[in-house]
Amino acid sequence: MVKAVVLGAAGGIGQPLALLLKTNPLVTELGLYDIVNTPGVAADLSHIATPAKVEGYLPPDSGLAKTLKGADVVIIPAGVPRKPGVTRDDLFKINAGIVHDLAQGIAATAPDAFVLVISNPVNSTVPIVAEVYKKLGKFNPKRLFGVTTLDVVRASTFVAETLGDLSKSTEVVVPVVGGHSGVTIVPLLSRSSHPLPTAFDTEKLEALTKRIQFGGDEVVKAKDGNGSATLSMAYAGAEFANKIIKALSGGESLIAPSYVHLDADKEGGAALKKEIGKELDYFSTNVQIGPDGVEKILPLGKLTDYERQLIGSAVPELTANIEKGATFQRTPA
Ligand code: NAI
Repeated sequence: MVKAVVLGAAGGIGQPLALLLKTNPLVTELGLYDIVNTPGVAADLSHIATPAKVEGYLPPDSGLAKTLKGADVVIIPAGVPRKPGVTRDDLFKINAGIVHDLAQGIAATAPDAFVLVISNPVNSTVPIVAEVYKKLGKFNPKRLFGVTTLDVVRASTFVAETLGDLSKSTEVVVPVVGGHSGVTIVPLLSRSSHPLPTAFDTEKLEALTKRIQFGGDEVVKAKDGNGSATLSMAYAGAEFANKIIKALSGGESLIAPSYVHLDADKEGGAALKKEIGKELDYFSTNVQIGPDGVEKILPLGKLTDYERQLIGSAVPELTANIEKGATFQRTPA
């Protein structure tokens, strides 16, 4: 009996994500909220023969509170996407306010829900949500997640392509750590479940690393002004959300990569900071998730010199992104 909610449900990510959640038999209620079109999206999805009862609301008449009532999991893909020449950080100006206001709504109506943030820049929007909750005295770091799954999905696909066998892409697992934008995305290719070819030289390793870090740009360029990754993001978002839903409903612990506050597991967080060599509040890594949220933050483990160097380059940008989100002040629109 899980109620899942999508905020930004009429968008390029929101619609296919809502579709995938509707196909999860563990979801018994699906709440959809957006500033446009949610009644239509909800009516459409409600004809699919799966258990979830679907409701869609717009802002008037407390639509946000109605959508969020009783929510267990809230996924946020609301906001504007990138266009060619626009970085994730450029989106901050618009998306920061949107995420801030939605977080206030969640904290008011469903303060114990698991919150999964997709809206970019994730490195900053997650700290925005945390600060809103802190101000209200309701922050539980164990239940706040930045969705970085698309980086992991891309790494699996690109490694399988490199191995010349796309059928392996569902089996390939590559840890991707750090954050979710450009150089803050750090794939640990030395730890791929399927090792790279022995003839893979430094130049090829750097090219593959860069492709994973900037994979989103391929989509932005190909869409030519019509947005960024939506379908692959919906797939990745559903993969992560479905793990959370399983952990919630089955009482089982699962491992998934996510961008989390390092206080979510104080001991694991402190150990991770030692590995990184820096006092950061947020980082993306594998976490163990159970019915109450994050149980353990898992260590990065053995790194090559090249991977250490990549983390070294990620940390200053990540630090600045976190600071920008944590100090964001909402000016009324
Ligand atoms: P989109 O423009 O197609 O959809 C966004 C939706 O949010 C629209 O339907 C819009 O009406 C809605 N919205 C705007 N303000 C709102 C508010 N105050 N309350 C509720 N809904 C609101 O954009 P798309 O492509 O779905 O991307 C959404 C976000 O996801 C962007 O910030 C994008 O950068 C991010 N993204 C994140 C990825 C990740 O890996 N975490 C990957 C790809 C995109």
